[in-house]
Amino acid sequence: MSHNSTCPGFTAVDRASLGIPEVGVGMLGYRFMGRAHSNAYQRLPMFFWPPAAIPRLVAICGRTGPAVQEAALRFGYEGYYTELDEMLADPRIVLFDNCASANAHSAPTLAAIAAGKHVLCEKPLATTAAEAKQMWQAAEQAGVIHMTGFNYRLVPAVHYIRELIEQDVLGQIYSFRGAYLQEGGDNPDRPWSWRSDRSQGGYGAIGDIGVHIIDLARFLVGEITSLTAMTQTFVRERPIADRPGQVGKVTVDDVFVSTVAFEGGAIGTIEASKVATGRKNQNTFEINGSKGSVVFDLERLNELQIYLKDGPVKGLEGFSTVSITERDHPFYQFWWPHGHIIGWEHSFVHEVNVMLRAITLGEPVSPYAATFEDGYRALAVGEAALASAETGQRIDLQY
Ligand SMILES: NC(=O)c1ccc[n+]([C@@H]2O[C@H](COP(=O)([O-])OP(=O)(O)OC[C@H]3O[C@@H](n4cnc5c(N)ncnc54)[C@H](O)[C@@H]3O)[C@@H](O)[C@H]2O)c1
Repeated sequence: MSHNSTCPGFTAVDRASLGIPEVGVGMLGYRFMGRAHSNAYQRLPMFFWPPAAIPRLVAICGRTGPAVQEAALRFGYEGYYTELDEMLADPRIVLFDNCASANAHSAPTLAAIAAGKHVLCEKPLATTAAEAKQMWQAAEQAGVIHMTGFNYRLVPAVHYIRELIEQDVLGQIYSFRGAYLQEGGDNPDRPWSWRSDRSQGGYGAIGDIGVHIIDLARFLVGEITSLTAMTQTFVRERPIADRPGQVGKVTVDDVFVSTVAFEGGAIGTIEASKVATGRKNQNTFEINGSKGSVVFDLERLNELQIYLKDGPVKGLEGFSTVSITERDHPFYQFWWPHGHIIGWEHSFVHEVNVMLRAITLGEPVSPYAATFEDGYRALAVGEAALASAETGQRIDLQY
């Protein structure tokens, strides 16, 4: 069958003729988040047109040749590496995207920074706040663009709530009540993994999902200045996959609850649980202010609930549910007509768009997306929660 430009009527197109720069991406890790980020790079030019840059998926890196080869083919990378040093020496790679497990964040990302790559690293930025601070400082000293994968800042309704607060629509913020709740940890048959181990995963509910809601609290209300917290571990050992009869110890928290104080006077509660039976992936918060309140729930991410004291209809005061899908709502001009809702994965498209604009146009990553400084500060809050749980003391944050 004929398949080239000799076909009658066929005109070949050349991406280079567009004059849009390409940014070469090298990714580490190819499971859940590797897939989410690769999908985001693929989707970006389809919707954010013309993009600041077209992501070029140069290579993906992993330790197991056949598996990483399969991932490269499936996700659309030009090739793969099984040695990180070799990938980082590839001059086509401008942006290193770290989607590996938390214990493989610090050293590979520091190596990428040393190689002069811009860096996007999934949360938790590291397994300790000290490591995360080192990554932030290394990236700053090298002058590379750095981003922590706090994608929930880039959900349209969350971004819109930040705008409402900036415009004083909610007035003085009194309180933030946030919870990130999942049920998967309640299943004792769920195998032991890097997430079960403090040295590999960092902190359980705190590090895995707690940092997301801590980041949203900081993003929307401001810096956390002190806290008290409690943690608990209910499932203390888990079966080791492929080793019948063997179990591994769980050395991280299943649940954490905290009371927090913010700069500016607001107070609140932040909690996270991996054993919240019935909760699939509920990342939710309520903010109360002197002029009104707002509620967000990730499982209904195209909506928010809002109550304004000076609402338009007397006698009908109360919370209203509003669809955040109008063209003038954040990011919506790039997607579909209003009411044609978007999903969880689209937050990653917004995230990589900020990263590519920062690389090619020099736009800032912060405050609408998270830098390594934000990754570090979220972990510092998480570590303070653990210290409070262990000592029973209220902790003043020292960043
Ligand atoms: N932003 C979000 O919504 C979100 C959601 C889930 C996970 N995450 C974060 O993304 C990261 C990855 O999580 P996941 O769920 O994709 O984990 P996963 O266990 O599904 O995948 C981890 C990947 O890391 C690779 N890996 C592990 N150690 C490595 C090493 N030393 N060298 C090279 N590769 C290594 C594994 O082979 C695998 O491909 C974690 O930090 C996690 O907390 C973020």
